[in-house]
Amino acid sequence: MYKFDREAYDRRMEWYRDARFGMFIHWGLYAIPARGEWVRSTEQIPKEDYMKYFEEFNPVDFEPRKWAKAAKEAGMKYMVLTAKHHDGFCLFDSQYTDFKSTNTKCGRDLVAEYVDAVRAEGLKVGLYFSLLDWFHDDFPHYGDRYLTYMHNQVREICTNYGKLDVLWFDFSYDTLRGEAWKATELINMVRKLQPDVIIDNRLEVSGEGYGSLAAGNPTSYHGDFVSPEQMIPPNGIQDVNGNDIAWESCVTMNNHWGYCANDHFFKPAPMLIKKLVECVSKGGNLLLNVGPDARGNIPEESIERLAEIGKWMKKNGESIYGCGKAGIEKPDFGRVTRHGNHLYFHVYENTVGPLPLPGVKKEEIQAIRYVATGAEIPVSTSWVHSDYPTMAFADLGEDPVLPDGVDTVIDVILKK
Ligand code: GLC
Repeated sequence: MYKFDREAYDRRMEWYRDARFGMFIHWGLYAIPARGEWVRSTEQIPKEDYMKYFEEFNPVDFEPRKWAKAAKEAGMKYMVLTAKHHDGFCLFDSQYTDFKSTNTKCGRDLVAEYVDAVRAEGLKVGLYFSLLDWFHDDFPHYGDRYLTYMHNQVREICTNYGKLDVLWFDFSYDTLRGEAWKATELINMVRKLQPDVIIDNRLEVSGEGYGSLAAGNPTSYHGDFVSPEQMIPPNGIQDVNGNDIAWESCVTMNNHWGYCANDHFFKPAPMLIKKLVECVSKGGNLLLNVGPDARGNIPEESIERLAEIGKWMKKNGESIYGCGKAGIEKPDFGRVTRHGNHLYFHVYENTVGPLPLPGVKKEEIQAIRYVATGAEIPVSTSWVHSDYPTMAFADLGEDPVLPDGVDTVIDVILKK
């Protein structure tokens, strides 16, 4: 009978909760048709037609160190690459199939190069692994033969690529969940090979549903975090007892996970910064996706946004890393994140007169500083808010234009 070990769980989750921000990378043969990672399914492409992409695949510009540098520069602390997506194509040298990158023109074990590059940049290593496999002869009937194949490949990625920090399974649906995947046997093997790896909840659910940890009766294959997709949970995520639990919103920059040549609807960097703040203010992580093209390049629109996010993170990262819910009401001018006795008010729009700090009393404040510069901000003593004696106000001075047009972060340091 599985016994959930809260101490071991909290220990392995520590870096993850601190990291708050990671890069998702969806890449594979589907970058050639360039119409998203589900193209084979949505367009019902016969296997023999899809094989022409396998014959052609040769990502001449693939340099995973460039990806890892872009992630690091953006302030990301971990990366998760699709080692195998639903199309069954393995970016790693699997001994159980010929449908793999080492058998393409490039002849490279792309996962091996990726994990080395991620570690070289000091980031945590994550691999995504699809539970589905449209290429396998048994699809869509996943009997013992398929499950042996799938378990063998999970063993390969947990054995041949060093320490993994995140294993991101995708996805369970209908009756295909839990023991339909022989999940207990699978996770027992994973935990033996990678005892500290953090696992998502999609052996049990998918982007919808929370899983057994949230339900208060964790199975041996419970997700370590809930994985809402293309949305941010309005109030964070709590378990049945109302306790906050770990979650990570995975979000695309445009509207596709895999490279899509015609999808230029990229979210602006200011919006992505505010979505990261929103996730942290609600006690979660943001896994922000890039979809490299068939040559192995991350699209320019993504590179530009990563650089702009990184500029903001370089100055304000302390209001993200290791931060979480503030435990006070959300101010109407922005959001609040908290780390110990530091309340980080994220000011998106200036107020008329001194800045109200809802939930904070004047006498509780040790000091107020601009995070980006360390400059002191006086506690306001203006008469204009004398009708609100129980609320503290910050005096941001005469300039109505905030120092940071996206998110000016002020650090309200509370007396201990
Ligand atoms: C959805 C997509 C899948 C993608 C996943 C990432 O399930 O269908 O292609 O990998 O989201 O969360």
